[in-house]
Amino acid sequence: MTLTVLFAASDANWAEYAAPLRAALDEAGLSARLTRDADPAEVDFIVYTPSSPAQDFAPFTRCKAVLSLWAGVERIVGNPTLTQPLCRMVDPGLTEGMVEWVVGHALRHHLGMDRHIVNPGRVWDPVCPPLARERPIAMLGMGELGTACARALSALNFPVTGWSRSPKTVDGIPCLHGSAGLDQALSQAQIVVTLLPKTPETENTLNVRTLALLPDGAVILNPGRGALIDDEALLAALDAGKVGHATLDVFRMEPLPQDHPFWAHPRVTVTPHIAADTRAYSASRVIAGNIRRAVAGEALLHLVDRGRGY
Ligand SMILES: NC(=O)c1ccc[n+]([C@@H]2O[C@H](COP(=O)([O-])OP(=O)(O)OC[C@H]3O[C@@H](n4cnc5c(N)ncnc54)[C@H](OP(=O)(O)O)[C@@H]3O)[C@@H](O)[C@H]2O)c1
Repeated sequence: MTLTVLFAASDANWAEYAAPLRAALDEAGLSARLTRDADPAEVDFIVYTPSSPAQDFAPFTRCKAVLSLWAGVERIVGNPTLTQPLCRMVDPGLTEGMVEWVVGHALRHHLGMDRHIVNPGRVWDPVCPPLARERPIAMLGMGELGTACARALSALNFPVTGWSRSPKTVDGIPCLHGSAGLDQALSQAQIVVTLLPKTPETENTLNVRTLALLPDGAVILNPGRGALIDDEALLAALDAGKVGHATLDVFRMEPLPQDHPFWAHPRVTVTPHIAADTRAYSASRVIAGNIRRAVAGEALLHLVDRGRGY
């Protein structure tokens, strides 16, 4: 039987994914029609991004799963018409990209690279940075991305403490949970990385109270979601010197509005949601692999728990 796979995403996504996705479906031994337009009643699987024209999932009565090309699913998880299983994206290419972004920006601040790159003149100012082993890092979120980043930083000798919703055991990385665990992780962190999903529970995880727990001058790297941080509280903490620098990749509103104070703040670095893109070739294999599993009656991978919101 030939499957109908509806590609419900933007024109730009289609241009990028059409060839690798067709190749991955073939490679997985699936007979599939990959299309951007189909009778909803005949669709077996939906490949989805939030830019999708399909927002009402009720007519897709035969659909066995909605497969997100994005890791973050906050824009679809609460859709009341979605009764089909929802899988988020766990893509080796995306993970690799996130590790590089986090390690790169952590090293920028750890080594004080700006001192020499943004050189104020011919100033011989020999400040030697501490060793990584002397720079504790808190990794808020120890899922696919947080754990990979924590491992990479730990391999460079940074003492990393993980924090997640549930208790976790990760070799060489002490892991905390719960609100006491968050307070403990933050109170010793010179660098904080936020890799939590956006849910009602994680909104404003970094707020007036929790930012006050940080050692003076701590650095924040946020490649997770803008809503994880209270913007006003962060700006106040930056102005007070409590937070030394914030490198932000994600924002409550994207693109970040031109008049947002983050653009002009001397201790904020804005990157335009580029920390980690889904990579078409590896992600297409993940999608095709999950379709093959569903067809074979195996459990889907990376299933979203609607109750938790991620
Ligand atoms: N900037 C970018 O380019 C980019 C790219 C991809 C993804 N992202 C963002 O990164 C996020 C994380 O991705 P992922 O693949 O690592 O997700 P994931 O595997 O689902 O991991 C999420 C982690 O957050 C923890 N968590 C969730 N709710 C929590 C709570 N209330 N309190 C404490 N911890 C909580 C989870 O705890 P448990 O382990 O206990 O479940 C888990 O460790 C995505 O949701 C997305 O927003 C950004």
